[in-house]
Amino acid sequence: MSTGFGTEIVSVINKLQDVFTAVGSNVASIDLPQICVLGSQSSGKSSVLENIVGRDFLPRGTGIVTRRPLVLQLINRPSQNPKQNGDAAEKPKTDGGDPNANPDEWGEFLHLPGEKFYDFHKIRNEIVRDTEAKTGRNAGISPLPINLRIYSPNVLTLTLVDLPGLTKPGCIILAVTAANVDLANSDGLKLARDVDPEGTRTIGVLTKVDLMDQGTDVVDILAGRVIPLRLGYVPVVNRGQRDIEASKSIAAALEHERLYFENHPSYKNKAQYCGTPFLAHKLNMILMYHIRSMLPDIKARITQQLQKYSLELQQLGGPMGDNSSSVVLNIITEFTSEFRTTIDGNTNDLSLNEL
Ligand code: GDP
Ligand code: NA
Ligand code: MG
Repeated sequence: MSTGFGTEIVSVINKLQDVFTAVGSNVASIDLPQICVLGSQSSGKSSVLENIVGRDFLPRGTGIVTRRPLVLQLINRPSQNPKQNGDAAEKPKTDGGDPNANPDEWGEFLHLPGEKFYDFHKIRNEIVRDTEAKTGRNAGISPLPINLRIYSPNVLTLTLVDLPGLTKPGCIILAVTAANVDLANSDGLKLARDVDPEGTRTIGVLTKVDLMDQGTDVVDILAGRVIPLRLGYVPVVNRGQRDIEASKSIAAALEHERLYFENHPSYKNKAQYCGTPFLAHKLNMILMYHIRSMLPDIKARITQQLQKYSLELQQLGGPMGDNSSSVVLNIITEFTSEFRTTIDGNTNDLSLNEL
């Protein structure tokens, strides 16, 4: 499976989570920001989410739209099924519906406890079924969220929320706007401005760049000449309705997107700043920045806790200069130095003006 997030950040966060397990999660924990997707109906929110996750599992299209909030928790879980020398021995536990099924990747709904979905098409069917059950076939929108967890070795432990209006303070906002409509009328940007007036955590995502009139492009928007955003905009090309009807794979869609930007006269010089991989990279940088800003506080909390415990030990007449305290501090110091280059390297890019 391809995923928008690089293995680098997955390994940084796994390592950090190991540190927290070692020191006890009540002392230190990683509080990753949520990513909220905002935008009007059919602007391409579900398409952007699927491309980032790398799997087809959301109802999409002209008729089927998101009518209930989807709270999507991605949970990183290391593979339990190591590959055996190119042998296709691992037969996925599915009913054969999904050719990409993998025993290490499944979904679980909060409303169906204990039931594992290895077939991502069935996840989509269940979202549609439960939406209709709770809102009626043609009925409108329900505020009742659908909670879906996806377990995979290839995702970041992260929460994504799909529906306008559900902005948690502090979340990173993907403000999705179709490039073939006027940016000034973008619901995504309007909602984002309400909750993030400074624009410090809003990334503009321009979908449907491929549907713009011949001879027009989003270069002025990307250059910040229309509605500037501090974190900028990323143009993407998702699968169109016809691609979906033809069951075009995400891998094929990402390849098409890459070729589109590399060959388009307006974008080919800046193609590395366009498309889903760059959007995922930008999200990585923001997460790295977030982690880096949390490290001093985590270290201070651990030190404080250790001082408290060694004082208590001392009062009980226990051993002084206990080794375990320095062991724990060493773990986090090692973590910090091991990943300093990764973290700093990524966050320094943040200040670049991409286009
Ligand atoms: P949502 O309602 O915001 O979640 O939008 P969807 O992701 O369901 O997309 C709505 C429709 O627009 C679907 O038919 C998609 O195939 C289509 N679509 C989304 N993004 C693009 C894009 O970049 N290019 C093209 N051609 N179609 C897109
Ligand atoms: Na919009
Ligand atoms: Mg949707």
